[in-house]
Amino acid sequence: MIYLDYQATTPLAPEAFEAMVPLLRDHFGNPHSTHRAGRQAAAQVELARDRIGAAMGLPPGQIIFTSGATEALNIAISGMAQGAPPGRRRIVTLATEHAAVRDTVLALEGRGFEPVLLPVRRDGLVDLDIARLAITPDTALVTAMLVNNEIGVIQPVDALCHLARAAGARFLCDAVQGFGRAALPQEADAVAISAHKIHGPKGVGALWLRNGLTLPPLLHGGGQEGGLRSGTLSPALCAGFGVAADLMQRRREADAHHVEELWQKALKLFEGWAVNGSLEQRYRGNVSLRRDGVDGARLLSDCRDIAFSLGSACASGSGRPSHVLQAIGLSDKEARGSVRIGFGRYTSVGELEDAAGAITQAAERQLHVANGAHET
Ligand SMILES: Cc1ncc(COP(=O)(O)O)c(C=O)c1O
Repeated sequence: MIYLDYQATTPLAPEAFEAMVPLLRDHFGNPHSTHRAGRQAAAQVELARDRIGAAMGLPPGQIIFTSGATEALNIAISGMAQGAPPGRRRIVTLATEHAAVRDTVLALEGRGFEPVLLPVRRDGLVDLDIARLAITPDTALVTAMLVNNEIGVIQPVDALCHLARAAGARFLCDAVQGFGRAALPQEADAVAISAHKIHGPKGVGALWLRNGLTLPPLLHGGGQEGGLRSGTLSPALCAGFGVAADLMQRRREADAHHVEELWQKALKLFEGWAVNGSLEQRYRGNVSLRRDGVDGARLLSDCRDIAFSLGSACASGSGRPSHVLQAIGLSDKEARGSVRIGFGRYTSVGELEDAAGAITQAAERQLHVANGAHET
């Protein structure tokens, strides 16, 4: 199978796998125990924390391990809302956010908050003039993604962060797809990341919190992670995450170069297809493509040996057109004619060529049948 779904998840780096094995097999101590086995496991967790912190390159802050970015985002959004002064009830986010942010923000409506979903332009980017009007002095939190998971566009998170700060609001960034691929907002209050999007294991993520910021916990229990996230950590998952982050930092240029080469190739191979979202302000390992008259869902089932997707992995099963493609103004027909291919470190040019050949041929067959049916 050719794997072209790097936004859903990335292949585990062999180096991350190797780092995890001894912690699963031999050094199985509970990192919260005080005996030697526990302390050895704890040392690996702290090494991972340091590696992730170095790779993020943000001002001094705490890194809290979680089960993934969904949990990190829930902790940050719920905690910041709960801790907001009574006069600040507005929570501003983008219409194109991942469900982990959008649904968490929308759920706050029932708790007396006023969610505001900012529209995006046809190129997928937020309009800063609209954002400026929406981020009012009664705003508690502004939360925006760095790189969109469905169309790859890079949002102007620094500018949104400045608007939030000027209004006295907090700023949270969902950097799941952007970590290592675009600049993290240095002025943010909190940043959420996930291991499995950077060639680490699934089931672990992190929330970076600016020093001095405290949040109420979502989970109560043993008081781990400074009391913010109770529960026994998995040293193996943390270590795999740490190695993946370290590797990503060291390979940043080589990975970016490889992705650029694949992107240029993809543009040639998919000539005649439109690319959804800004061509300039984007992470180039995420290509959302559209072709008139083609049915994306059928394309997926016609090309079963290629792992690619309609949009986000979460929305793919629902049969509903993606909220992101709707938000950039595509018609239902255009949205249904869109597919996303995502590639990266371990994708070869040959794989991309083979996959593009199969996908474009399947699309031609669909168009041929449709035209034939039209003529008879
Ligand atoms: C932009 C974005 N935010 C959040 C998440 C959730 O991350 P996790 O799978 O670690 O819970 C994803 C995963 O698809 C994502 O792409």
